Amino acid sequence: MSNTAVKEEKQKDEKCSLDLCPSRRQFLFASGTAMGAIILSGIPGLSNAAKLEAELTRYPRVKIGKVSALKVDKPVKFKYPARDFENLLIKLGTPAGAGVGPDKDIVAFNALCSHMGGDLSDAYKPEHKILGQCPFHQSTFDLTKYGMIVVGHATQSLPQIELEVEKDDIYATGVFGLIYGCHSNPMRV
Ligand code: FES
Repeated sequence: MSNTAVKEEKQKDEKCSLDLCPSRRQFLFASGTAMGAIILSGIPGLSNAAKLEAELTRYPRVKIGKVSALKVDKPVKFKYPARDFENLLIKLGTPAGAGVGPDKDIVAFNALCSHMGGDLSDAYKPEHKILGQCPFHQSTFDLTKYGMIVVGHATQSLPQIELEVEKDDIYATGVFGLIYGCHSNPMRV
């Protein structure tokens, strides 16, 4: 790598470290360790060939809702990990990958399509527990299976928000996968 390229890479990392956006270096580190890697195996309907991995990036823990306030199939919008990024908190009414709560059916996903950032914030289809179709190129994501792609142009699962439940409170603590635009559009809190 030339001196100029090294300098540019260093500047990118420094810029990103000022934000909540995980830097390329952090992603390389994450992918090379057990940190936050989830293997989507042992899920009904997923073949070995369909096993996927997503990397977890930890962000500050933020309270985003209450278990008792959620109604099945009624998504609640919230911002995380920065104010410009909208997500959906949903009680699916059926156990889901990385689901939390007494029924393991509470999940949260970023509402930007992983393909080119189409807005999926009003695209929940309760009959199939999917998000989509994306208004741009029709990608659709299965919320019971870690946001994996059902159909469409996207090649990555929908970023899933890591959740924790403490008594009745629901907290967001990180994001599995890369939110669309994060690598090139740094987020600020
Ligand atoms: S932006 Fe959603 S499918 Fe292309």
